[in-house]
Amino acid sequence: MATAAEHVIDVIFGRWRSQILAAGTELGVYDRLDRAAPRRAPELAAELGLDPTLLYRLLRAQAAIGLLAEDAAGGFVLTESGDLLRAGHPQSLAAMARLEEGPQHYALWKHLPAMVADGRQNAFLREFGHMAFDHTRADGDYAERFDQAMSSYSGAQAAQVLGALQGTDISDVRVFCDVAGGQGYMACALLEAYPHLSGIVLDLPDVVADPEALWAYRLGLEGRCRYVGGDMFKEVPQADAYGLKMILHDWNDEECVAILETIRRGAAGPARVFIMEHIVPGPETPHFAKLFDVHMMCWGSGQERTEAEYAELLRRAGWRMVAGHAAPGAVMGVIEGACD
Ligand SMILES: C[S@@+](CC[C@H](N)C(=O)[O-])C[C@H]1O[C@@H](n2cnc3c(N)ncnc32)[C@H](O)[C@@H]1O
Repeated sequence: MATAAEHVIDVIFGRWRSQILAAGTELGVYDRLDRAAPRRAPELAAELGLDPTLLYRLLRAQAAIGLLAEDAAGGFVLTESGDLLRAGHPQSLAAMARLEEGPQHYALWKHLPAMVADGRQNAFLREFGHMAFDHTRADGDYAERFDQAMSSYSGAQAAQVLGALQGTDISDVRVFCDVAGGQGYMACALLEAYPHLSGIVLDLPDVVADPEALWAYRLGLEGRCRYVGGDMFKEVPQADAYGLKMILHDWNDEECVAILETIRRGAAGPARVFIMEHIVPGPETPHFAKLFDVHMMCWGSGQERTEAEYAELLRRAGWRMVAGHAAPGAVMGVIEGACD
């Protein structure tokens, strides 16, 4: 059991660990290693065009935090955790590291004390002069980091969402529309799990412009899934059920009500909505949602919410809350709403 001082020291230096991890993704280090054959710093440095002495010290630190293992001859292999940072791993988290520890998101955090002091939630504006989705249009590097990170994180999240929905009957849903569904990872996971479904992915025109980046094409599901470029504040395609994964947390309450109202209008009849988010639990439970909420404070106008807060947003937009679903031990949950 850590002492109080050890606990505080560990938290103070937490950023060092995430930056040491992320330097490996930026430099392509994990992609040059595997689980079995040790490789030494000079050889890796020559391949990657890096300084061998400083690279050795970085690799040694990555071993100290459990991402690599070092042998007595200075050779390094990936641990099971480090393996998840290879870009080619099927559940790779490399793109999420590149986003969260990359230059744009890193720069936001210094504004946190000032925002809490003056009550204006606008770190992106303070740092870059505009909000996050405008920044994706202004900075191609940020757009690439963001879209890839969303797909990368979706692997783990799709499993949690499918787990949460296991006891839910969706046999009457024929057309599922993932609103602001990014490159369509979540929609494709649902199409694979439920063969009777067809899918629509709505997102901003730039995000769905390049078929090579879209999961339905990559997975051979393009016959069952179409992409629509549009604006969820104006119009969504007609469907029987809608998904909103990590969308409402991007926006304030008024904006969320506007999105849910647009969906209700688009449905043009009875429909269901599945809100997939990190749901904030009660005060007695420490939870990742409570940390993610502070990231959302830095990132945009949104926040993480409790189940009761989602129920209230649904009510205000003309939906009724049906149920909250969560797989045991999962950090994400699903709030189900319906309208007639
Ligand atoms: C946090 S990401 C989540 C993406 C996806 N649902 C996922 O979980 O991977 C937010 C998404 O909202 C999209 N978006 C932002 N504003 C939008 C709008 N007005 N209409 C449609 N999509 C929008 C962004 O392009 C981005 O793909």
